[in-house]
Amino acid sequence: MKIYVLNGPNLNMLGIREPAHYGKTSYADLVAKIEEYCRDRGVTAVCRQTNHEGTLVDWIQEAYFEEIDGIVINPGAYTHTSIALLDAVKSVGIPTVEIHISKVEEREDFRQVSYIRAACIKTITGHGTHGYLEAVDALLEHGKSASEKGAPGSSCK
Ligand code: DQA
Repeated sequence: MKIYVLNGPNLNMLGIREPAHYGKTSYADLVAKIEEYCRDRGVTAVCRQTNHEGTLVDWIQEAYFEEIDGIVINPGAYTHTSIALLDAVKSVGIPTVEIHISKVEEREDFRQVSYIRAACIKTITGHGTHGYLEAVDALLEHGKSASEKGAPGSSCK
C-alpha cells in the first residue's frame, strides 16, 4: 500500500508557529514519525508540504496517475477556502482523510467551514500530530473493509 501525506501552507512552520495550537513537534520530526509508523505497517508514505494551492491540486491529481491507494491531507487554511481542493479529491476518487492538528471546531468562525470534508472518508481534528497516525489507521481500516467487500480495485498494492 502506498499513500500520500500532503500538508498545506505554514505546516512547514510546525514547532515554531503558535505552539499553543500546533504543539512543539517540528515538520521534520512529524515526517519521521509518519514514515516510521507507516513502515512498521508495511505502508509506503510519501510526505510533502507546500504553501501553494495549485501544487496541492497537482499532487492530488498525480496520486491518481501514480495509482496511490490513499491520501492523508492537512490543507491548512485552504481547508476553509478551496473548492479546487474539493474538486481535485472528487476527481480522483482516492480514499482521503482530512486531518487538523488543532481543534478547529473550537476556534474562529472562519475555520468552521471545510470544503474538502465533503469528499473525505473521515476527518480528524484536535489530536495534535498524533492525528496523522490515526489518519493512516483510517486508510488501512478503509482498505481492509473495502477488500473484504470485494470492491474492485480495493486490494492493497
Ligand atoms: C490547521 C487548522 C487551519 O485552520 C489552519 O489554517 C492551519 C492548520 C490544523 O492543522 O489545525 O494552518 O489545518
